[in-house]
Amino acid sequence: MSNTTDRDPLAAGLHPQTLAVREAMPASQYGENSEALFLTSCYRQPDSETCAARFAATQPGYTYTRTSNPTVESFERRLAALEGSEAAIGTSSGMAAILMLCLALLKAGDHVVCSRSVFGSTIGLLGKEFAKFGVETTFVAQTDLQAWRAAIRPEATRLLFAETPTNPLTEVCDIRALADLARNAHAQLVVDNTFCTPVLQRPLELGADMVMHSGTKFLDGQGRVLAGAVCCTAQLVREQFMPMVRTAGMALSPFNAWVVLKGMETLALRVKAQSEQALQLASWLQQHPAVSSLHYPGLPSHPQHQLAMRQQSGAGGSVLAFTVKGHTPEELRRNAFHVIDSTRLLTIAANLGDTKTIITHPASTSHGRLSEEVRQAAGITQGLIRIAVGLEHLDDIKADLLRGLDTLK
Ligand SMILES: Cc1ncc(COP(=O)(O)O)c(C=O)c1O
Repeated sequence: MSNTTDRDPLAAGLHPQTLAVREAMPASQYGENSEALFLTSCYRQPDSETCAARFAATQPGYTYTRTSNPTVESFERRLAALEGSEAAIGTSSGMAAILMLCLALLKAGDHVVCSRSVFGSTIGLLGKEFAKFGVETTFVAQTDLQAWRAAIRPEATRLLFAETPTNPLTEVCDIRALADLARNAHAQLVVDNTFCTPVLQRPLELGADMVMHSGTKFLDGQGRVLAGAVCCTAQLVREQFMPMVRTAGMALSPFNAWVVLKGMETLALRVKAQSEQALQLASWLQQHPAVSSLHYPGLPSHPQHQLAMRQQSGAGGSVLAFTVKGHTPEELRRNAFHVIDSTRLLTIAANLGDTKTIITHPASTSHGRLSEEVRQAAGITQGLIRIAVGLEHLDDIKADLLRGLDTLK
């Protein structure tokens, strides 16, 4: 039995809200309304000639899931539609996306300029792993445009890598200004858009060349699977990234692609609701006597508040960080652990972008493997706590935090 109900391809000019629900590969002959999960590692070939032609890519058709898979393609099409890119390529995790991008675009002797406040593993990958192969990275202060400019080496700099807002300090860099710097230096700007997602921020519209994602976070949105992606031109995907994924194997699993594909259908609702909760929580936390500093771009007290409001559709996002009171590193760590361990509802973990609120001690988790010197330079003190706000009732989140904040010695 078959159902040939698929209608014409989607019309041009549909709104992101519609594309988040509808953009995908055409339905199969069964006419399924929810996109199908093609959980297969290889594909049956009708005969040897066709098989040879498909492997040689002289004829279209699926061969092996490390090369292509319809569910992964649905995920890629939907994300590209939301970011406004020609194409996207899925990878097994966010870190795999950065690995793929760097392996494909860099060679020994090349140079990268990267914010020193990006996700800890990104610093490790560029600063340690790629250094072994002769790719040098200069880490600069996230918001110091002059430092970015000065770090560029005219003959060698190929990539500028930025993440905004940063994790966990929520520092915001000016994407448009960095894109101008990159263009003048004949380099390319990559923006990690994991925190804002295309719902709040579309870096390609601001001049970035590529956008990368940890789909593990908001795109999935319910903390289930690892996924990653890079959004860019179709030519880059076809000529650089696809061959790298096929060769090096950081392919996205069809199951994970399907989970994230369905997660993206509610992305805008979740991101907006969580961002609104975060703003209220940040305003409230700022008043608490046990909180010595608070980082949230949605508050006027944030140093880049104006820029964030311009660049992030007027919203601060759903991640905030605060420092508990204390003097020595030992006292700060003890106090931070007290607040975290006094919670009963919040999840103690190192993820974000989940519907469940997550509380994290960055200095001992996401940034735990960095040397004390690098961690200090990135501003990650022992008293810092990050909260990735979810969808629980705000009063319950506050009550959970108060248990520790009100009992600090
Ligand atoms: C901003 C950012 N980029 C990249 C990553 C890496 O993503 P993944 O854990 O999917 O490899 C993370 C993970 O926390 C992140 O927060």
